[in-house]
Amino acid sequence: MELRNRHLLLGITGGVAAYKAAELARELQRRGATVQVVMTEAATRFIGTATFQALTGQPVFTDQWDPRIANSMAHIELSRRADAILIAPASADFLAKLAHGLADDLLSTLCLARSRPLLVAPAMNREMWAQAPTRRNIAQLREDGVRVLGPASGEQACGETGEGRMLEPEDIAEDIVAHFVPQRLAGVSALITAGPTFEPIDPVRGITNLSSGKMGFAIARACRQAGAQVTLVAGPTALPTPRGVHRVDVRTARQMHQAVLDQLDAPGARPGLFVAVAAVADWRVANASSSKLKKTPDGAPPVLQFAQNPDILAEVAARPAAPYCVGFAAESEDLERNGQDKRARKGVPLLVANIGHETFGQDDNELLLIDAEGLQRLPRASKQALAAQLVAEIAQRLAATGAAARAQAPTP
Ligand code: CTP
Repeated sequence: MELRNRHLLLGITGGVAAYKAAELARELQRRGATVQVVMTEAATRFIGTATFQALTGQPVFTDQWDPRIANSMAHIELSRRADAILIAPASADFLAKLAHGLADDLLSTLCLARSRPLLVAPAMNREMWAQAPTRRNIAQLREDGVRVLGPASGEQACGETGEGRMLEPEDIAEDIVAHFVPQRLAGVSALITAGPTFEPIDPVRGITNLSSGKMGFAIARACRQAGAQVTLVAGPTALPTPRGVHRVDVRTARQMHQAVLDQLDAPGARPGLFVAVAAVADWRVANASSSKLKKTPDGAPPVLQFAQNPDILAEVAARPAAPYCVGFAAESEDLERNGQDKRARKGVPLLVANIGHETFGQDDNELLLIDAEGLQRLPRASKQALAAQLVAEIAQRLAATGAAARAQAPTP
């Protein structure tokens, strides 16, 4: 319910993608928003007002002179009530109107009369999207502070393939959620490990653990929503990639280790934050077989030998100019002492302990934050809600270390 108490005005303009606006209205409501629909006359040729009236439980407005709103001020009334205005789909024509400040129907007039943020999800044929006037209008809208969501590339209703498709309703809803999140990690590049690792025994068998990856993926999503650039190094899991997150899939602990080092040493923005959420196997099978192990006539079981895997978190934390490192721990007893010990052993400023034995695969969790200042409990909540709280805590500590480092740096 990340959009609880949010009131959104969903403007629908004339384009075949208007049929997807029904799904979008549902998606926004599913996340807790109330949705008020306003349609252009052209939009009503693609999909009926009754659909949205039924879906949102609110009257749908199309007409500037709608007698249901007293004093003929529908444009002011409607735009003041909304926390944000979202136009989806936004046709080329409607974007042109917005860019030029035209106000010749209810939707364009309320956009011009707005005092709240405006987001648009363009949808049009690829040639229309590529044309100079559309390029100019989009540039103008961005300059005017309008958020442009998408468009996506792919197959179009006209049969052509290219850029101009409206984003999928779920992606638009994700962007709307992120729009309301304070940008505490803006400008930060974050690296996150998540999920289990899989250590092969032979080509068809291996050793893994019960980590679902849910907490790490939730943290990646929350970091992205808070404005970070996020790379997620994921062990084997079927979870979908959070929107806007760069995902690197790995299988073994050693692959995870290498992927993390590659990211740290890659040219470009060096990660300023490393959150190790993965349940990394401590050992791998040193004598893994390259062919499938067979039963032997004497019934003797295979003998596995183990070798220790690299400790990714400890190694990253020990690097010169290390990013701000956050570790996770699943301790079952004496959380505080074991947590502080592990924090020291790993050399990290913040260790997050899962409280309770069985959090693997569950949708909620309870966390204990352990740092130099002591302990802080984040009470039981969904992993997504906890991830958002944790990211706010991390951002605060990250800002404080940045400030401390700046204070220590010699003045030029
Ligand atoms: N971790 C890591 N690389 C490893 C093992 C652990 O990066 N090879 C990270 C985990 O992602 C987690 C933290 O270290 O953030 C603690 O993991 P945990 O398994 O609790 O720690 P261990 O070092 O395995 O300690 P223990 O002796 O309690 O098993």
